[in-house]
Amino acid sequence: MACIAIVGVGAIGGALAGLLETAGRHELTLCTRRPIEALTVHTPQGVVQVKAQNVTDPTAAPAVDWVIVATKTYDSEGAAKWFPALCANGARVAVVQNGVEHRERFAPWVRSDRLLPVVIDCPTERRPDGTVMVRGDTLMKVEDNQLGQEFTRLFAASPAKILLVDDFTSAAWWKLCINSVGALCAITLQPDRVLWGEAMTCIAMEMVAECVRVARAEGAQLDDTMPDQVMALCRAHPADSVNSLLADRLAGRPMETDARNGAIVRKGETHGIPTPMNRMAVALLQAMENSAL
Ligand SMILES: NC(=O)c1ccc[n+]([C@@H]2O[C@H](COP(=O)([O-])OP(=O)(O)OC[C@H]3O[C@@H](n4cnc5c(N)ncnc54)[C@H](OP(=O)(O)O)[C@@H]3O)[C@@H](O)[C@H]2O)c1
Repeated sequence: MACIAIVGVGAIGGALAGLLETAGRHELTLCTRRPIEALTVHTPQGVVQVKAQNVTDPTAAPAVDWVIVATKTYDSEGAAKWFPALCANGARVAVVQNGVEHRERFAPWVRSDRLLPVVIDCPTERRPDGTVMVRGDTLMKVEDNQLGQEFTRLFAASPAKILLVDDFTSAAWWKLCINSVGALCAITLQPDRVLWGEAMTCIAMEMVAECVRVARAEGAQLDDTMPDQVMALCRAHPADSVNSLLADRLAGRPMETDARNGAIVRKGETHGIPTPMNRMAVALLQAMENSAL
């Protein structure tokens, strides 16, 4: 049994709460900005009612064993306000967010040896009525170390699959390669089918190729077939698939542009690797976001 707090109970936080409820044994605390009456999670295995205490005041949160952060990347500073109380007894912090900068993002608040970066695949959305809809299997990748092994044990007896990987850097950049092309959907306000045309495929493949060059400079092992692999994955999605950048833009919410394509540009700069396609995507999305304010 572990005391586990989830900070950010949206789509992913809700899905993880459902999995931990299914795993049983744990004492769950849901840390939210607004009170939640109940949390219902619809999963491929059935409906889960999460039994947890809900806290909305970061200073009134209990000390726990594990904190799972599942806010959007741009809400990390707000998420960190929960740490003084939740981590009073030295809790470990799992950061379940997209991108490749989990450690850098939380370095001001969490000691590196207490932080576990997590890459997640879990097609999930939070519905307007507050329920969470998980549409497929949950796969997480974590470093194969003591923290990663402890985190994996939290989900034992749940349907989640967790891979302990020797090379987390490659796993995170692999996911970023896939996510990089989502910017084109957000720019054009069109679902995945927009990537299937020849001209857009060329641009998307060059965005991935830039990401691969930067990833390799960061130590990731990604081969030259990545652009083809990413496009094959895109074509395997239903034509009307909406990625999270597009969903956020359509809903008028902030986008995780900086943690995705922005990270490719920033890391590229540190290695002297040009990333013109990703740079343009960032500039366009930021201009669109600002014009919507
Ligand atoms: N959704 C997916 O299918 C999916 C798949 C893979 C990876 N991811 C990644 O997972 C991460 C989370 O995404 P998501 O889709 O779950 O986002 P989301 O549905 O927007 O949920 C984020 C939640 O964080 C809450 N939050 C923000 N600041 C907070 C604070 N200071 N204290 C407490 N709660 C706070 C938000 O609260 P409010 O309700 O008050 O706004 C919201 O409920 C992102 O990095 C995303 O890229 C998502």
